[in-house]
Parts: sequence; C-alpha cells; structure tokens
Amino acid sequence: MAPTFTPRVFSGIQPSGGLTLGNYLGAIKRFVAMQDEGGAETLYCMVDLHAITVWQDPATLRRNTRELAAFYIAAGIDPERSILFNQSRVPEHAQLAWIFNCVARMGWMGRMTQWKDKAGKNSENASLGLFAYPALMAADILVYHATHVPVGEDQKQHLELTRDIAIKFNNDFGVEFFPVTEPVIGGPAMRVMSLRDGTKKMSKSDPSDQSRINLSDDADTIAKKIRKAKTDPEPLPESPEGLKDRPEARNLVEIYAGLADTDVASVIAEHGGRNFGEFKPKLADLAVEKLAPMSAKMRELIADPDEIDRILGRGAERAREIATPILEQTYDIVGMIR
Ligand code: TYM
Repeated sequence: MAPTFTPRVFSGIQPSGGLTLGNYLGAIKRFVAMQDEGGAETLYCMVDLHAITVWQDPATLRRNTRELAAFYIAAGIDPERSILFNQSRVPEHAQLAWIFNCVARMGWMGRMTQWKDKAGKNSENASLGLFAYPALMAADILVYHATHVPVGEDQKQHLELTRDIAIKFNNDFGVEFFPVTEPVIGGPAMRVMSLRDGTKKMSKSDPSDQSRINLSDDADTIAKKIRKAKTDPEPLPESPEGLKDRPEARNLVEIYAGLADTDVASVIAEHGGRNFGEFKPKLADLAVEKLAPMSAKMRELIADPDEIDRILGRGAERAREIATPILEQTYDIVGMIR
C-alpha cells in the first residue's frame, strides 16, 4: 500500500533583491493564507544557494536575505507558527541535491524554459549551478517530504521536474519514499504581468522600473506607476469573457482581484463598463492600502538585523529536525555507509 504523507507545505523565494508585486500575489500572500488555514506544517525559505547560480555581491546577498526575511514577517508569516529560515543554513538541502543530480537526466534540465531564458545563447558560459538549479529545488521540497508547494505559474515546469525526480528515485530504488508533490497554483494573480506590456511577466530583471511595482515603492510611486500603466482605449468589459485578447486590461483586473482577495468575475461585476480613468485610481488606492503598511513594517524589522538572524537560526534548527532523518534514510536507500 502506498504510504501516506503528513501534509506539509514548503516554498522558497530567491533573495536576489527587488521583490515585486508578482512575488507578493503569486507567492507570499498565499504562503500566509496557507499558514493561517492551519492543518499543515508550513516551511518558508530564502533560497540563498539558488541566488548564487548567478553572480551576487556577498554583502548585498546578506542584506537581501535579511530584507526578504523581514518582508515575510511583515506580510504575516509568524516565525512561531511557520518555520522560516535560509537554505544554506540547512546543509541537507545541498546534500540531497547531490543525490538528485545523479537521478535527474541532462535532457530534463536542458528542457527547462528558465534555463533557456537565463542562460540564453551564452549557455557555455553559464554556471553549472544554473543548469542543476531544478535538482536543488527538488531537494528543497523533498528533504521535508513536502506534499504541497504554493508557487506562481512560472514555477510550474520546475515542480513537474520535482515530481519526475521523486518518481524516478522511487522506481530506481524500488521504494515509495518520496511523495509526488502537488503544486498549488490557484487564484487570480498567478502570473502578474508587466505594467508596460501585458504579454511579459512582471519581473525584477525588466530594465524598465515602470514595468513593475516593487514592494519597496512608496505610495506616490505605486500610484504613479498604476496611472501610467499601459491599457487599451476600451472601457472594462461587462463580463470576464470580454478580457480575452486584452492582456493589459486582464492584468490590471487580476491584480485588483488578487489584492482585494476576490476573483475576476466579482471585480468585473463591480467595475465592468468603467473606463481606466476611473478604474486605475481605485486600483492605486487599493494597492497602496495593502502594500504601504507592509513596507513600513518591513523597514521597522530590518532595523534590528540581529533579531532577524536569531529568528532564522531558530528556523534552521527546526527545519533540520525534519530534514536530518529524511536525508539519513535517503543515504541508507542509496547504499551509503554512515
Ligand atoms: P522566484 O524567487 O523567482 O520567485 C518567488 C515566487 O514568486 C512567484 N512569482 C510570481 N508570481 C506571479 N507573477 C509574477 N510575475 C511572479 N514573479 C515571481 C514565483 O512563481 C515564486 O513562487 N525557483 C524559485 C525558488 C525556489 C522554490 C523552491 C520555490 C527554490 N526552491 C522550492 C518553491 C519550492 C524561484 O526562483 O522563485
């Protein structure tokens, strides 16, 4: 009989600076909801080992890691109820990743769209870590036997690979040891798009700062960026189907729905027929109302980096209590003498 796994939630964010509204709606906000729902242990991580797959200045990496921790807490992650830590402090992630490097196939990695996007034409010059990135991600999840992983749409392919690795490991060794993890991708704003081009993902690496809302933006900047966001000349449609082929309009409606904790249909029911001159100020007010208190709280927390380090240290200890026995059993399965 297949084993049953205790429900456990894991997710991570790279501390590579520049958190955006996409990170908030696609990830952090939902991490908080899953923590608050209860019913499953929740582990949230700053994946610093992933961040260094591309160059990071050491002092900046440290600052960004603390800032991300502060943002998690400001957004509602309670380090008592959730386990909050940075990846490198739990060495079992990297240890299991090595085993998975030997399970995963080169071809699987080469097919990852994130690898193709990030390495581009110059793949010979990309780090080996960037290529192996998804095996470390699988290790992050499976070293806790996590069953549920909330992420934005762009991580879907990596989670499929995590499932493939779990299945292949189980088959290769004739065990039912690793769970086949469920991605949790649901709700309106799973793919927040650029404010300048509704067909491109909102991203910290976009050269135009106008394309994104940074979680560190002040109220005026947020309002200005939304006012200037690209739209088409039509008013909002009277039904959700009318958003088809209108990527910029759809994006603003989805952002509204995500921030207001509702769905696209309800936003259209309330605002359908309005032109953007009316809708944008409402969206800007909502964004400022939701984001400003968080960034204020974040700034307050970051003023005490020792306290943040203490929280992360405690989180890493708790994480290791779960990860150590799972890694030991993995070593036994593979045939390592301990
Ligand atoms: P990262 O750091 O790029 O992004 C963190 C989370 O934010 C989501 N996200 C978005 N969601 C909606 N719209 C957007 N425009 C947008 N931009 C970012 C991402 O989907 C993600 O959920 N590989 C991961 C980090 C990672 C991880 C893991 C995640 C490492 N190990 C284990 C889950 C489980 C990454 O680079 O996310």
